[in-house]
Amino acid sequence: MKVLVVGTGAREHAIADALKDDVELYCYMSKINPGMSKIAEFKQGNEGEVENVAQYAVENDIEIAFIGPEAPLGKGIVDELQKNGIKCVGPTKSAARIETDKSFMRKLFEDYQIEGSLVYKVFDNSEDVSKFLDEFDRDVVVKPVGLTGGKGVKIVGDHLKDNEEAKEYSCEVIDNEMGGFAQVIIEERLIGEEFTIQAFCDGEHLAPMPAAQDHPHAFEGDVGAITGGMGSYSDVGGLLPFLSQQDYDKAVEIMKETLKAIAEEAEPYKGILYGQFMLTADGPKLIEYNARFGDPEAMNVLPLLKTPLVDVCQAIVDGNLDEVEFEDKASVCKYIVPDGYPETEYAGELIEVDEEAIEDLGAKVFYAAVSQEEDGIHLSGSRALGIVASGETIEDAEKIAEKACEFVKGNVYHRRDVGTTELVNKRVEHMKEILN
Ligand code: GLY
Repeated sequence: MKVLVVGTGAREHAIADALKDDVELYCYMSKINPGMSKIAEFKQGNEGEVENVAQYAVENDIEIAFIGPEAPLGKGIVDELQKNGIKCVGPTKSAARIETDKSFMRKLFEDYQIEGSLVYKVFDNSEDVSKFLDEFDRDVVVKPVGLTGGKGVKIVGDHLKDNEEAKEYSCEVIDNEMGGFAQVIIEERLIGEEFTIQAFCDGEHLAPMPAAQDHPHAFEGDVGAITGGMGSYSDVGGLLPFLSQQDYDKAVEIMKETLKAIAEEAEPYKGILYGQFMLTADGPKLIEYNARFGDPEAMNVLPLLKTPLVDVCQAIVDGNLDEVEFEDKASVCKYIVPDGYPETEYAGELIEVDEEAIEDLGAKVFYAAVSQEEDGIHLSGSRALGIVASGETIEDAEKIAEKACEFVKGNVYHRRDVGTTELVNKRVEHMKEILN
């Protein structure tokens, strides 16, 4: 079977890697990913130019297209591919609103009385924002309604000093139409531990994957700018050291209810549903959905798949998805980034990656925002590559991943603390404090 993976980063490299042994693999990517270009036929092009992607798929008799990133989904890539007879793992433009329109998502929770929502309001003018914030006596999170490439969300107590700064930022979001809407969404700030559940969806059925926890802060000790994610871990049993089976099941139930509601309000949702939750004293609350795999979280779960990914893709497009099996192992992913990231001066520099040495340790390399050129692998200003290891425990996996990071040379940095027992225990203690 011919399968096309659309996208350029480490998430897409992990998807391609999980497919490569069972399909004729094609990739459509904006930069030449050093890993994907070795295992697939590929075309370099802008993934957001959806007609061009569809033309490439038609010319190559692609049967199934797997869409990695959210931006092409927001532009209707699935609608375009389907119009050309190509089946897709990824939601249509209308169903992808679960990520691309946060007010649609929150209203769905209200209209369908789905548990796990929070206090929120959508505004289109600064007077109403001010009035609301003057009366609201808790910290808030300010979000553009549409897509901002992970850079638009600001949290009081983190990026914003207080609700006064939240007012200023809300006006900026509305005035500049950040994310494509002259609106802002203000939500209560939740206190707890974040976790991710990703699920395969065929429009009606949902097969959840092991939970994972990302590390958005740039530097060790959870300080510095919020980034796309500096690393993540998952544990045996599909849970996390602070996440019980009961809370995992509640989160999955919220996702199942959401899937039903999207089918009613938009269209059946086929693809990957990414739920970012906060485990609070009142149980799991939904922070946001993404209409695609998480990055880095895709790298935790895909290497552990026991059910071939191609079979899962076929079941998604056919609408007969059943249970999907994973190896019962822990995993740790550490992202290697240019020094100083996200404010780096090393974009364009060469790095050296000793893939053989990394693989000899039993770890994997997934390339992200780097490009393969004649003289080697060049950094961009963004995350460079994910190093992933699995083991019987998080501690085992962390040790392998950390050792493997030594085999990447250049002006690069990674968070040594991701997946360490010390940091994992800190999360567990934090959750205990909240529950007591
Ligand atoms: N890990 C965050 C994201 O994928 O959006």
